[in-house]
Amino acid sequence: MLKAPHTEPANGPRHVAIIMDGNGRWAQARGRPRLFGHHAGARRVREVVEACPGLGIKYLTVFAFSTENWKRTQAEVAGLMSLFRRYIIKETRTLKKNGIRVRFIGDRVRLDKKLTELMDTLEEETKDNDLVHLTVALNYGGRDEVARATKRLARDVAEGHLLPEDVDEETLPKYLDTHVLPDPDLVIRTSGEARISNFLLWQSAYSEYEFIDTLWPDFTAAELERLCRNFGSRERRFGAVPA
Ligand code: FPP
Repeated sequence: MLKAPHTEPANGPRHVAIIMDGNGRWAQARGRPRLFGHHAGARRVREVVEACPGLGIKYLTVFAFSTENWKRTQAEVAGLMSLFRRYIIKETRTLKKNGIRVRFIGDRVRLDKKLTELMDTLEEETKDNDLVHLTVALNYGGRDEVARATKRLARDVAEGHLLPEDVDEETLPKYLDTHVLPDPDLVIRTSGEARISNFLLWQSAYSEYEFIDTLWPDFTAAELERLCRNFGSRERRFGAVPA
């Protein structure tokens, strides 16, 4: 079991979300195939998860595969799907032992059955853990999530469980994939791109952003700590005027 922090950093982010970008460029720079970079990236996920308790991060959400990533070559998509399957098989014991609760967000319909079974099992195996809540976004897109949520909400209205006039900012998020999670405090994107690429669109309305040049396979726990410290020194006003 990973150690819980003795004292949680008072001003640090409780929920960190990461767009793990730059695996392909990292591999290319080494003259290796893109999948080599994805494998290196997967190893970084473990290091970052393990750093969370010491930094007071209770929720970590990582963007592993977007609804747009299907446009990559068939070989890369198949390689990533195989990597996700192998990652789950390999990491389940450690995640369970280390107190990590794993959840997946995104649309599972297009994922293969073997993978979704592994995802279900990992969620079930870790459901009693509470040290860190790791959420993996897989076939996830923020707009797709809002569309799927709206469909479920509309169904509830049609069936008379919900009145249209009762739909407000509190209601819609209950239909999102992230309904059990707090909104992210800090969103990090690696590899120098300053875009959010359809990640947690609704949830990140008031998040702080860090766009850093580091390619994801080079990202370290020390860098995460630095970004958490930066976060602690910022003032978040949520639209209000400072007191
Ligand atoms: C973006 O880099 C990365 C991805 C599309 C895949 C992310 C996957 C991992 C980090 C590995 C697996 C994760 C888990 C949770 C097991 P890119 O390919 O777009 O890089 P580029 O912009 O340099 O081409």
